[in-house]
Amino acid sequence: MCSIIGYKGQLDVAPLLVNSLERMEYRGYDSVGIATINDGKIILKKGVGKVADVNKRLDLGSLPGDTGVGHTRWATHGSVTNTNAHPHYGCTDSIAIVHNGIIENHKELREELIGIGHIFKSDTDSEVIAHLLEKYYVDQKNIKKAVIDTCKRLEGAYAFVAVFEDGTICGSRYNEPLIIGSVDTGHFISSDILGFLEYTNKAIYLENRDTVILDSKTLQIFDMEGNPVNRPITQVAWELASVDKGKYAHHTLKEIHEQPVIVEKAGTQNLDRVKEFCNIVRNSRTVFLTGSGTSYHCALIAKHLLSNFAKIHAETMVSSEFQYTLDGIDNTSVLLAISQSGETADVLQAVKAAKHMGARILSIVNIPTSSLARISDWFLLIECGPEVGVAATKSFTAQLSLIYTIVDRLCNGCLSFEADKAFLGGALREILDTEIEIHRIAERLRDATDIYIIGRSIHYPIALEGALKLKELAYIHAEGMTAGELKHGPLALIGSNSYVIIINPNDTTSNDNIATAHEIKARGATIIGISDRPNDVYDIFIKIPSVKSIFYPIIEVLPFQILAYYLALAKNADPDYPRNLAKSVTVK
Ligand code: AGP
Repeated sequence: MCSIIGYKGQLDVAPLLVNSLERMEYRGYDSVGIATINDGKIILKKGVGKVADVNKRLDLGSLPGDTGVGHTRWATHGSVTNTNAHPHYGCTDSIAIVHNGIIENHKELREELIGIGHIFKSDTDSEVIAHLLEKYYVDQKNIKKAVIDTCKRLEGAYAFVAVFEDGTICGSRYNEPLIIGSVDTGHFISSDILGFLEYTNKAIYLENRDTVILDSKTLQIFDMEGNPVNRPITQVAWELASVDKGKYAHHTLKEIHEQPVIVEKAGTQNLDRVKEFCNIVRNSRTVFLTGSGTSYHCALIAKHLLSNFAKIHAETMVSSEFQYTLDGIDNTSVLLAISQSGETADVLQAVKAAKHMGARILSIVNIPTSSLARISDWFLLIECGPEVGVAATKSFTAQLSLIYTIVDRLCNGCLSFEADKAFLGGALREILDTEIEIHRIAERLRDATDIYIIGRSIHYPIALEGALKLKELAYIHAEGMTAGELKHGPLALIGSNSYVIIINPNDTTSNDNIATAHEIKARGATIIGISDRPNDVYDIFIKIPSVKSIFYPIIEVLPFQILAYYLALAKNADPDYPRNLAKSVTVK
């Protein structure tokens, strides 16, 4: 996922673009670049690295003009180099483009354009857009036609913004978000509302194949046939303060600390929406759950709760595998897709496959205008505010809290989650109060090369989630597994250099876990126990408060988030922008 931004107005554009890109940097941070117009000439600066670093090196903010485009890249086609950074010119510097997505037929288009004399500079798929625009503009001298004819040639997913030497800005999208923000001082075209949230929280969300043309007089939106269209203005309930780090060193740490309030406020959304959501589940013959990464781990917990409390059997499948296992899905099925961003390509692909089989689509998202929300029959919001850190933290506990709310309704209040939310918020605060101790444990683990995380029953998905946090934040190979599986092979890996974290609150899984811990101990590993009760078998003990056993997943994930955060710092990794990753993986 990349971030793209365009602006045309009365303000000095370069500093504005740099600021917008910094706010959207979580979308991709391999390289950054901006292009502005001054006296009819497009000037472009770009480089490898994060916005602040490249700006310091190239003084991006000094580019002149009141019109321009900007980009931060998460590399897909073409390695991370200055040349492959966006924006891209065509053959001349009369057009510059920035792009998010993948042009699947870029090779054929590149060959065709080279065949008529175009010269490419980068290895990217995106550069073909600049050359197509240039070709069609030279042929017709009409920007709207040039954009529409270009889009008709593109296959794959794209959202692009282009600037022409006459100062016109244009853009179009297909299966990647592109939104417009308009204020008195000018217009923004952006991937993400964070690109202009400090100016307005009102946005126009373009539909697939819409084209927007912003010239010195007007801003117009057209459909693929060139007919003017109107799109509604949506007010997004986010404030700028929610995307600032405030007193925290990183967004990730801030978002970890927001979790008590998020759990206490969970499920406060429109009860009618929850009722309708539950009616759709109840009236379906088969229920399927899907998600990717952290959201998939939430789906596993949802499966456990639906089965054990709502007596509803649900199949779970990670989204990237879903399209290969469609048996059993038909028009009596419902697919519940869980996705914080609502833009994950694997999830959208799974949903489209299920829709094709006739299933109804329910979704749990954080962004009501996301692609997933828009293609769902019904969706609920996790309402945790923008999550900027690439690692999912507060969105996971918000997803879990909403799942508990849903299951509680489906089982007629058998969980009494509503009554326990305040207590669970307090339990999370108690764990946050041990942050310094967990930081010290992170220092002891900084040289660990292999960490195993084990849990049983509803704690197994948390073992997977804890392992994912350690992998993506601290770059440590961590493996989550069911405690019972260790002896079926992985125990062969356990030795004196191994660390094994056991998720072992005082519930029905505890006796078996302690037995497993002794097996591990006998092989010399260091054992870290996460529990509400100490035990001599633990070499390191991370205490969590005692809560109703079914609610432990909401609180026992927190030590892993804190541990992974401080391990990232200990290893000089950037917790907010882990290497090779992006906040939402919008490519397959
Ligand atoms: C989790 O920390 C990762 N950032 C990643 O696994 C993420 O959960 C996954 O890509 C799914 O994202 P989504 O919830 O936005 O669909």
